[in-house]
Amino acid sequence: MLSLYRTLYISRAAPGVLDRLLESASQIVATSDRNNSRLGVTGALLAHDGWFVQAIEGERARLSSLLLKIARDPRHGALEILTFAPAESRLFEGWAMAHATVTPEVAPLLGRVEALGGGFDPDRMDADVLVTVLGAAMQARSSAA
Ligand SMILES: Cc1cc2nc3c(=O)[nH]c(=O)nc-3n(C[C@H](O)[C@H](O)[C@H](O)COP(=O)(O)O)c2cc1C
Repeated sequence: MLSLYRTLYISRAAPGVLDRLLESASQIVATSDRNNSRLGVTGALLAHDGWFVQAIEGERARLSSLLLKIARDPRHGALEILTFAPAESRLFEGWAMAHATVTPEVAPLLGRVEALGGGFDPDRMDADVLVTVLGAAMQARSSAA
């Protein structure tokens, strides 16, 4: 594909969705699955401990406008883009939007940070590590399917 890019951002769930984060994530994934397939976009969304971590990949201009649309969504805030860069291949091939969850396989990857005290803190994690976390959550999911 011409100009395949991947972006990863983190954001805070809005207070209104905090107490039903998993349900909100499922709704978002359903909408995204529909829209992203049309756009040739693939990715994964993790909702954990009040945070959203999302990776999306696709054609650069489409990715950019999707990201700006997502940023306006009142269900989250304090969005921070950790990376927006060319990618050699898709990591989330076959998933218009995968719902990543913290499975036992994935938990150890978060453990390093959680061990420092006080929950999941993607703000203190590198984009590379977070992409790995999402990828691992995907693998756990596909092998369980
Ligand atoms: C954390 C988060 C991630 C989202 N990811 C996507 C996405 O990948 N694709 C998408 O179309 N909408 C995504 N949305 C939803 C959009 O903000 C918007 O509500 C939706 O695209 C509107 O779809 P519609 O025009 O079909 O109603 C996301 C929203 C949030 C809060």
